[in-house]
Amino acid sequence: MRRRHRITIIGAGMTGATAAQWCAAAELADVVLYDVVPGLARGKALDLYEATPLLPADARVFGTEHWDDTAGSDVVVITAGARRRPGHSRTELLAVNARVVGEVARQAAAASPDAVFIVLTNPVDVMAYVAMRATGLPPQRVVGQAGVLDTTRFRAFVAAELDVSVEDVRALVIGGHGDGMVPLVRLAQVGGVPLTTLLEAPAVERLVARTRTGGAEIMELLKPTTAYCAPGAALTEMIAAVLRDKGRVLPAPAYLRGEYGLHGLYTGVPIILGAEGVRRVVELPLEPQERAAFLDSAAEVRAAMAQLPRDLWARTDADGMASGGRV
Ligand code: 2OP
Repeated sequence: MRRRHRITIIGAGMTGATAAQWCAAAELADVVLYDVVPGLARGKALDLYEATPLLPADARVFGTEHWDDTAGSDVVVITAGARRRPGHSRTELLAVNARVVGEVARQAAAASPDAVFIVLTNPVDVMAYVAMRATGLPPQRVVGQAGVLDTTRFRAFVAAELDVSVEDVRALVIGGHGDGMVPLVRLAQVGGVPLTTLLEAPAVERLVARTRTGGAEIMELLKPTTAYCAPGAALTEMIAAVLRDKGRVLPAPAYLRGEYGLHGLYTGVPIILGAEGVRRVVELPLEPQERAAFLDSAAEVRAAMAQLPRDLWARTDADGMASGGRV
């Protein structure tokens, strides 16, 4: 009998639980929700599983606090980590989350050595790098989730502005997941028609600005919660691309080894995503202004990487991976 696919989602907060719900409803795979908080993952998973006869969807959903239960997963999603709090600097958040992501990635990789890892924890470009270094997995098997979310926000805003179907809006947002992200307006199309011929420049600029601050807009409304529906849907899109080996062309933080003239960091670029993870980074010809904005955004990621705690790799190195061996 063919074994069903298995997804492990680490972190049973709003985004993790929402992604579990979308994945189960789409019958993508059985879902294991993992959280260290006793009962949280088990409770949310049981509640979701009890809904499956009504969806209807054949997906076993299971919650746990034990790594053994996650074994043999095809995809591991990392949403675990702290949110920024008042009095908590970005550097402190970076250090806290780097330790959490490094540890859970290592544990999950030990249980599921063949999985593709998708990282959502912020700052996501840096956390994808941490997960790759901590696990020692080949970079193509560790990818971030950001560009699909940023692009879906832009598509939704354009569709509402023009009063057209969201399905017909195509767009691409590259760069780091921050205010410096780069929506490539020149390439955006509505049913094959360039967006720039349908909307005046000031309107396009307004939608671009709203996309850049899309996460903050939701946080301002929901505080202290952050967005979880669109992030959960974005994760589901990427998980489906891997499990169904679709070869989707999607923007996502991927590890660069010379592409776009950048080395040794994760940032948002178009990738081809399939069963093996990142099949290829797509090198897109950029106009000088777009390239400058993209490189500025990558420089922000590089600056954040420089703030990672110096002792972060100590345990990894002691486990046998040479420092910098994979970067
Ligand atoms: C967002 O953009 C929190 O990064 C997340 O909504």
